[in-house]
Amino acid sequence: MKKLRIGIIGCGAIGSRIAIECSDRLSGIFDLAGLCDVDDDKIAALNVSLKKKARALRLDELIKEVDIVVEASSAMASADILERCIKNNRDCLIMSVGGLLGNESLLSDAEAAGVKVYIPSGAVCGIDALKGASVGKVESVTLTTRKPPRGLEGAPYLVRNNIDLKLINSETTLFEGSAEEAIRGFPANVNVSAVLSLAGIGAKNTRVRIVTSPAYTKNVHEVEIVGDSGRITTKTENIPSKDNPKTSALAICSAIATLEGIARSVRIGT
Ligand SMILES: NC(=O)c1ccc[n+]([C@@H]2O[C@H](COP(=O)([O-])OP(=O)(O)OC[C@H]3O[C@@H](n4cnc5c(N)ncnc54)[C@H](O)[C@@H]3O)[C@@H](O)[C@H]2O)c1
Repeated sequence: MKKLRIGIIGCGAIGSRIAIECSDRLSGIFDLAGLCDVDDDKIAALNVSLKKKARALRLDELIKEVDIVVEASSAMASADILERCIKNNRDCLIMSVGGLLGNESLLSDAEAAGVKVYIPSGAVCGIDALKGASVGKVESVTLTTRKPPRGLEGAPYLVRNNIDLKLINSETTLFEGSAEEAIRGFPANVNVSAVLSLAGIGAKNTRVRIVTSPAYTKNVHEVEIVGDSGRITTKTENIPSKDNPKTSALAICSAIATLEGIARSVRIGT
């Protein structure tokens, strides 16, 4: 089997784990052809953990050198990265899904260009059911996200509204609104709301509630989908990644499973 050349943009919690898997357990199906990060130290630190060192490449160099680009950087960068992938006819897996909201036309541009865009289900379960339900009529999609304060630190919505997470001492609803507003206010915290939006009824119609409490230890996502195929409720209790408490461990595993699905001919549940 020909190995897929993979390039990773963003060497944080998600990118690092994917790189480590590609250079070890998945080295039979992937060739880790390059790493890119705005912070050179992140690439150097990651290379220390890799069985086979990967080259540090600039963004455009990396896109040209690989078969598939993995974006694991930031919502500020993901639309630009996808646009460059489309121009260079490279398939792309996007983790910073929030950055695609408002840029949905890129997905049709990719389709027209024959570029495959992969969006893993990430830290939430039920995307498969939402896609199925969307073949019929979906009336509502509601996400309730519960995260410990450290999983929400630095969110623009909190800064804008002078909300000090250290002063919160009981269960508190911080935000209620559309997924479009949620991603603007919490770009690094509720990518799942963007995944749900793209799989279902869009960012304007998908409802989001964000709740925190110092007693929480997990990132919990509850989804309720109501449509003409019935009522679906899912609950995912995620262990936060030890490298980035905003990111759930399952989101990292979901990206790796998606990549394995791309490389292998047998795919289960996709
Ligand atoms: N889809 C999902 O379910 C899901 C779940 C968790 C996180 N995410 C998103 O995935 C992305 C990565 O998450 P993470 O936990 O690895 O974050 P992280 O903060 O641990 O790492 C991000 C890395 O990207 C680098 N970076 C930032 N901007 C960059 C740019 N323009 N070009 C190149 N490198 C850049 C940073 O220096 C850092 O090393 C984030 O945007 C996060 O919000 C998505």
